[in-house]
Amino acid sequence: MSNILVTGGSGFIGSHIVETLKEANHKVFNIDRTNSNFADAYQDIDINDSANVEKFLKENKIEYVYHIAAIANARRSLENVQETMINNVAGTASILNACANANIKKVILASTVWVYNAADKNNSKKENGNIILDEESNILPTCGGHFYTTSKLCSEFLCQDFKSLKNLNFTILRYGIPYGPRMWPGLVLRAFTENALSNKPIVINGDGSARRRFINVKDLAQGHLLALDSKADNQIYNLEGDKDVTIKELADLVSLNIKDVKVEYIIDETRAGELKTDSIEISNQKMKKDLGWEINVSIEEGVKSYIDWFKNNN
Ligand SMILES: NC(=O)c1ccc[n+]([C@@H]2O[C@H](COP(=O)([O-])OP(=O)(O)OC[C@H]3O[C@@H](n4cnc5c(N)ncnc54)[C@H](O)[C@@H]3O)[C@@H](O)[C@H]2O)c1
Repeated sequence: MSNILVTGGSGFIGSHIVETLKEANHKVFNIDRTNSNFADAYQDIDINDSANVEKFLKENKIEYVYHIAAIANARRSLENVQETMINNVAGTASILNACANANIKKVILASTVWVYNAADKNNSKKENGNIILDEESNILPTCGGHFYTTSKLCSEFLCQDFKSLKNLNFTILRYGIPYGPRMWPGLVLRAFTENALSNKPIVINGDGSARRRFINVKDLAQGHLLALDSKADNQIYNLEGDKDVTIKELADLVSLNIKDVKVEYIIDETRAGELKTDSIEISNQKMKKDLGWEINVSIEEGVKSYIDWFKNNN
């Protein structure tokens, strides 16, 4: 059992990480700007307040830190680039600095598969006409085409720098498209569910053919628990789903669970910079091979249980 801090432990993904770590008998602390009832202890500290973070780490004898707090909404990043960089880049620097000073054993960072927008696709493996991208893919300085992605690339680079300059261990976890209870408004399954339950049409951006690999937040949180293993030290892992699901298929799954749903298709320019998954596949094999990660929740079960949860909690 270890003392573990989760930054952003009140949010959608952080709260599930807190729950999973507690189930594994760790003592879990949360710092966030908003409170929640999930952790063993909570304190309202801004991640950019490095001195207070360091004090908190030392006073509570924290051994591992999951750095999850960030501006997670890419649309908000598009409108507020400075706010994104302050929270996601300066915030990560502040957390890593505090962790290095407090001799933390390892920092586990929340990143995104959107960083593969910056991957060198010309020199990558190909299978069945798809470009296969994995943790070994080279990242080009042309960047990811989105302020949010740039903020996550910078956060990853900071982890690498803190390892080489201050010997602070890291594990970087690049998430696919997480879904599940406590998703914030705007995430696709929540938007579809809210509309369908209030007799409004499900609105699809584009023609519905865009493919996604959704990952249930419970499977995602299990991946975080496995990342504590020293085998994962100074490694990058993709926490990506197994199965391609088009947005139209997701809407159909919602319709299966909520009757009489209409679907509308619109063109939405604000989706610029999203990872284009049409001819690429992001491998999740390294996480499975190195750490024995498994995907246990199928999209069919996950959508049904999310809709049940949503009905009971709204
Ligand atoms: N949700 C997704 O689709 C997705 C996909 C890939 C990666 N991620 C990453 O996963 C992480 C969690 O995302 P989420 O969806 O749970 O977001 P969320 O908004 O639900 O949770 C983020 C939490 O961080 C806290 N926070 C933000 N700035 C802070 C600050 N300066 N000081 C203290 N607390 C602060 C917020 O109050 C919030 O509780 C983020 O790093 C995000 O970039 C999310």
